[in-house]
Amino acid sequence: MFVSDFNAEWLEHPFLRNQKLIRSDEEVVRTAACGIDSVYIDTQRGLDADDMPTAEEAAQELEETLVGVFAGDTNSTPSFADSVTEARQVIGSARRALRELLSSVRLGRSIDFPAATETARQLALGAARHPHACLLLGRLNRSDDYTFRHSVNVALILGIFSRSQQLPEDTVQALALGGILHDVGKMAVPVGILNKPSMLDAGEMQAMREHVSSGVRLVSAPEGALEAAAFDVIAEHHERCDGTGYPHGLKGDAISLGGRMGGIIDVYDALTSDRVYRRAINPAESIRKMFEWAERHFDRNLTHAFIKTVGIYPAGSLLRLESGRIGVVLRQGEQSLMAPVVRVIYDTHRMAFVTPVDVELAKTADRVVSHEAPEKWNIPLERFID
Ligand SMILES: [Fe+2]
Repeated sequence: MFVSDFNAEWLEHPFLRNQKLIRSDEEVVRTAACGIDSVYIDTQRGLDADDMPTAEEAAQELEETLVGVFAGDTNSTPSFADSVTEARQVIGSARRALRELLSSVRLGRSIDFPAATETARQLALGAARHPHACLLLGRLNRSDDYTFRHSVNVALILGIFSRSQQLPEDTVQALALGGILHDVGKMAVPVGILNKPSMLDAGEMQAMREHVSSGVRLVSAPEGALEAAAFDVIAEHHERCDGTGYPHGLKGDAISLGGRMGGIIDVYDALTSDRVYRRAINPAESIRKMFEWAERHFDRNLTHAFIKTVGIYPAGSLLRLESGRIGVVLRQGEQSLMAPVVRVIYDTHRMAFVTPVDVELAKTADRVVSHEAPEKWNIPLERFID
């Protein structure tokens, strides 16, 4: 059969591409060993499978399940007084601080722990004051170097998520610190491998995976003395609940809370980011993939709690409404995850941009019909957020 999508986290399967003609049982066994339990096949390019749903049917079923699970939920994050301007300042200065911090680690210096702790504290506080604006901006402004931007995003979302789980403030800040340092070990990975535009070979993959143990080594310096929650994020964000993760192949509850949260958020942010070897997947689509993978890779309850926090149409998602209008999600609605607040920017009937207007879907008769890929409509989202 011709696999057109392994339905897996990128880089986590042993084949060079995300598409492949599977010729032998041995290849099937290797695929399954990576924790992949379902794939999409192209029946034009290989054999068909009996009694299997089509991609459209699978997407439809997934959507119905997702809506069934979350339709009655509201967003637990308060949304008053969110400021995009202040959130932008917090994120901007964290990115600058992190660029400096990680660049100096790349040069062989030890981690500036006081600077890292202060950056994490500012991010955790900013995320508390402006959760929706932070979630939105994290999805935009994607021009920075991936590692800095990704680390700041993981810290922000960890802050928002852990606070929504009513964890104590010192744990929230420790998790944010774990977030900004979770990939610090990548500063020990050769740049040629880190930024390689094609898929990695087995040796390169191994070198990439070493970033976890390098990170643990870097933060284990005596002057570090990281809180356990911060350390857990760094050491266990690539462990997976079914035991297919690394470096230790830990299973289920053997993975710390910080490791399980960090893993969910790391994958979510990576999926929604452009990488040198592939394009970003839009946030709503990424949420659907996470929901699908939750059963095996992630803590199911924690993944559902995460989805409640960021929404089933996360900030930055492009939505088509029943009225034929298209809008970008600004934040979650307070009444239902099905009815976020959107900035309407386009009219599909007139095929034209319209004067942007913010609409709280819960207060109108309009509703979400589907989520859309921005590329399909050629809509530069950044232009519509100030
Ligand atoms: Fe990592």
